[in-house]
Amino acid sequence: MHVPVAIIGAGPSGSLLAWILRQRGIESIVFENRSRAYVEGRIRAGVMEQNAVDLMIRAGVGERLQKECMYQPGVEIGINNTHHFIDFEKLIGIGVTVYGQSEVTKDLLAALDGVGHNVLYETPVTGVSDHHGDKITVTYEEGGVEKTMTADFVVGADGYHGASRKSIPDGGIKMHEKTYPLGWLGIMVKAKQSKPTAFFSFHDRGFALLSMRTPDIQRLYLQVANDENLDEWSDDRIWDELDTRLGTEGWELIRGEIFQKDLAPLRSFFCEEQRYGRMFLAGDAAHIVPPTGAKGLNSAFADISVLSAGLIQHYTKDDSSILDQYSKLAVERNVQTQRFSWANTAKYHIFPGTNSFERRMQQAELEYLVTDETAQTSYAKQHTGLPFAYWPEL
Ligand code: APR
Ligand code: PHB
Repeated sequence: MHVPVAIIGAGPSGSLLAWILRQRGIESIVFENRSRAYVEGRIRAGVMEQNAVDLMIRAGVGERLQKECMYQPGVEIGINNTHHFIDFEKLIGIGVTVYGQSEVTKDLLAALDGVGHNVLYETPVTGVSDHHGDKITVTYEEGGVEKTMTADFVVGADGYHGASRKSIPDGGIKMHEKTYPLGWLGIMVKAKQSKPTAFFSFHDRGFALLSMRTPDIQRLYLQVANDENLDEWSDDRIWDELDTRLGTEGWELIRGEIFQKDLAPLRSFFCEEQRYGRMFLAGDAAHIVPPTGAKGLNSAFADISVLSAGLIQHYTKDDSSILDQYSKLAVERNVQTQRFSWANTAKYHIFPGTNSFERRMQQAELEYLVTDETAQTSYAKQHTGLPFAYWPEL
């Protein structure tokens, strides 16, 4: 069997690409090693850049998003129990959008399902070969039986642990990685909003973040160690720590029922190239960012915007000029997103072993940010997201 495009992974990257290609009549198959319920239920962040929202709308899958999303004109920044609002909309004319990324995945998978698209759930890809041949080969396991198929192109949209990147021989692509001695303890809470926008707080005891999913569901995080034991965090201990790090005179964090607790270590990783022969890497397969910039899904969508534009141009106009630039354009944008996510992590977190001088300088940097309009404009541009190099013709 041969398909034009074989997509590995039905996360946001793979499902959006399959959907966009289908809109232009380009055939693809999607391999996903998990069940649909598992993919839809995975814990994810909830902030979308305007370009990511616009891509969903242009692709015709933005209806529920537009109805249920919460637009936010800026963010609040906490500095050792003082609160400061940065008004992105006033500074640069756009804000950000809160819409759960698991909702994005649900919308995309439902759209693909609705048109009967070929998404093979519980069908892991075990290998990719012949990257540099006339066609590329995908090996997968269906119902316990190993099978192969060929494609013009493979898109590795199979996340950090996927099979696509692992199929590249050692040294085939240069990669960079950093692990942090930090983790985020996250909670989902049934409660009303304590603030109208997300609230990023620097505190001598560690970073804390107040975010939301809907007006009645809040999402909060505490900086903890990367090997923290969740069992040691009772609900009361979490709330007390959040109060300590987020609180200020005359404002109270609204508490509610905690219905989910999770722990995530922080990591930065990226590939210097996002193409290896006939295989393209997109989304988490090519780059992971610490969550401090909320860039995971947004950079995945930036990749897919350029990659889908390139594949559409290749198949409809017999012109590969965008496709041939994909790796360069994607990496150029992603390295800047990496820098922002890394710098933002350094800005807000207390790293083990830092002394009072270093913490005071961190505080001074944030004090500069909340008082200087030029610094705020630069922050606003980065937080709301860099442009997409190409958009698919839809
Ligand atoms: N074969 C088939 N599918 C695989 C394989 C494999 N060998 N390995 C992994 N997968 C699947 C995973 O089960 C997962 O559903 O690939 C998918 C990859 O999805 P994500 O990890 O969500 O990656 P991506 O789609 O690039 O998501 C981009 O969105 O919500 C955010 O945190 C998320 O930052 C990430 C971003
Ligand atoms: C979230 O709402 O989950 C969220 C918001 C902002 C971030 C990270 C996560 O930077």
